[in-house]
Amino acid sequence: MANPLYQKHVISISDFTRSELELVIDTAVKLKSQPQPELLKQKVVASCFFEASTRTRLSFETAVHRLGGSVIGFSDSGSTSLAKKGETLSDSVRIISSYSDAFVMRHPQEGAARLAAEFSSVPVINAGDGSNQHPTQTLLDLFTIYETQGTLQGLTVAFVGDLKYGRTVHSLTQALSLFGCKFYFIAPQALAMPEYLCDELKEKGINFEFRDSMEEIMDELDILYMTRVQKERFDETEYMHVASRYVLTPQVLENAKDSLKVLHPLPRIDEITVEVDDTPYAYYFEQAENGVYARQALLALVLNETL
Ligand code: CP
Repeated sequence: MANPLYQKHVISISDFTRSELELVIDTAVKLKSQPQPELLKQKVVASCFFEASTRTRLSFETAVHRLGGSVIGFSDSGSTSLAKKGETLSDSVRIISSYSDAFVMRHPQEGAARLAAEFSSVPVINAGDGSNQHPTQTLLDLFTIYETQGTLQGLTVAFVGDLKYGRTVHSLTQALSLFGCKFYFIAPQALAMPEYLCDELKEKGINFEFRDSMEEIMDELDILYMTRVQKERFDETEYMHVASRYVLTPQVLENAKDSLKVLHPLPRIDEITVEVDDTPYAYYFEQAENGVYARQALLALVLNETL
């Protein structure tokens, strides 16, 4: 029987049903414990990054190589005909998709992945479009939460930092809202969760609250999801007003449950001190490693009719 993700574009996490998310997580669990070096044999994946990346690009490329496939693409669009000769994004997508079986793309503009899907002859996987969505980060976040808590159902999760521009927060709250989780949002006013997302959560009857500090809710949390202030989306003066407002130290974690895990999509700047790395709560480096398994699972499902 064909799996429901076969040949599907992956543009927004809200395109996934709960059972599709569970399918990706189950597949990632299997691939982490039982490597399958031939699942993408003879498949070519285009990896096209129009915006900087370390984890997303390299974990996608590692995922493809470890499943026996090969990668074409670029990490700096400055050398492409789009940048040098004025070729349109839509023409570039038509061409690159004709050379590949799947098209992974990161782009600084919101909506670029959705546009690419209109012109691509193969599935497009959004690796981040501006401050909009980062669905594959959410898949690895869900996998990591499941790995550490044994469930996704009914957890209490706090999101801290830049909730306005933090696309990983937008995608993850949408996904966790399918699992009956409770949310706390902690951010400077200028970086608050966008109103349209709060309205969406209200419509779905999701329990969420705004708080001013991490300490006041620390003892309730299963997951503390830290984010960095997205400097590249501000001018310098505006950035100085909001940077370094919430910093996680071992002292802030004093009343945490033993099972609490601190996650962060990374890179971090100064919002988690290095002393936290040595506490049993820190799980952000394992989270980044899980990007390989979650992206292996997604690519395997998108490119294999039966799995
Ligand atoms: N988490 C994440 O998207 O990291 P990169 O920007 O390094 O890909």
